[in-house]
Amino acid sequence: MHSVASPLPPDLLRAIDQASGWLPFDAFMAQALYAPGWGYYSANSRKFGLMPQSGSDFVTAPELSPHFGRALARQIAQAMQATGVREVWEFGAGSGTLAQQVLRSLEGLGLLLDRYVIVDLSASLQQRQREALAPWAQRVQWLQQLPDRIEAVVIGNELFDAMPVKLLVRKAGLWHERGVVRADEGLAFEDRITPMRPAQDIPGAHDYLTEIHLQAEGFVRTLAQVLHRGAAFFIDYGFPQAEYYHPQRHMGTLMCHQAHRADAHPLDQVGLKDITSHVNFTGIALTGQDAGLQVLGYTSQAHFLINCGLLDGAGDLPLSERVMLQKLINEHEMGELFKVIGFAAPAPRRPADPSDQGLPTWEALGFSNGDRSHTL
Ligand SMILES: C[S@@+](CC[C@H](N)C(=O)[O-])C[C@H]1O[C@@H](n2cnc3c(N)ncnc32)[C@H](O)[C@@H]1O
Repeated sequence: MHSVASPLPPDLLRAIDQASGWLPFDAFMAQALYAPGWGYYSANSRKFGLMPQSGSDFVTAPELSPHFGRALARQIAQAMQATGVREVWEFGAGSGTLAQQVLRSLEGLGLLLDRYVIVDLSASLQQRQREALAPWAQRVQWLQQLPDRIEAVVIGNELFDAMPVKLLVRKAGLWHERGVVRADEGLAFEDRITPMRPAQDIPGAHDYLTEIHLQAEGFVRTLAQVLHRGAAFFIDYGFPQAEYYHPQRHMGTLMCHQAHRADAHPLDQVGLKDITSHVNFTGIALTGQDAGLQVLGYTSQAHFLINCGLLDGAGDLPLSERVMLQKLINEHEMGELFKVIGFAAPAPRRPADPSDQGLPTWEALGFSNGDRSHTL
């Protein structure tokens, strides 16, 4: 149990009281990240950047190198052409940097978009995105809710890792759900017996802490309902289920980030640091498939970006740019831990044709080499 003394937002204390004194961890995490005014992503702090000196807490791939968005744009362009859609939808657009890169690159490829739609929970980030994307003001729109029908290429970088997770704890052989309670000094964890279980059995009887991702999977289910034509690509850190729920990963993957340092204390400095967990890509893939999407592929960020031409012409770049580009694909940096999963909206089937199994009629560029869908 970890509890701390720090000034706690009154809204959070109220939420705990309203939950009869025990707030499930996912509800706590939703508040800590997205509560209007004080949640980490709602507040006005810098968040994304290369160095702590800038007041930032962590760096993401588009902030590291414009070549990330340039390569992703090639995949987007191919998917637009293959599915005949003319919109891009970005979920969780952060500072707007990836949108800039994609819009610029699609222009460079001669592809005209009808619109670039951004959906982001954070009003303060939406404001930053509007400033960053002023040159494209005619084409970019922000929506708060999903319509019933989308025909688009959907993208999300580090979206799922910022979605609240439930924490499950096995203690003395019994599974508990972890919640947050008020304590004299601040906040504390309290675990309650639960019928919930991780997506696969964890052999052994040792104590074990892990996460389940109901919100990210709910998001994929909703997306599947509304994506009538097009494709979706999500990039994030994580693993297939067998690796995620490996018996040795007994401390889970929940992590906080502040000033480019990681810690494992989400009850400290609530609202002032990012809270994140890795993604169970098997859960994401199965949820998408069950809801009617087709998995186009799953691979490492390095494979995906290289397949999308990241290294074309890289030898001519200035050294400083090459160094950043390499970080995107180096195995010990972002290349291997980060994965990409792609989905296609189901093509309309031809019922009279027995050879039509409703499979995608096109192969996504990003998975042309090194597809690891079989590991999911
Ligand atoms: C870790 S940041 C990544 C930002 C950006 N994609 C990047 O790569 O720099 C997560 C982003 O997802 C947004 N977000 C989280 N949950 C969301 C949801 N359910 N719908 C839309 N945006 C969401 C956050 O507000 C934030 O902009």
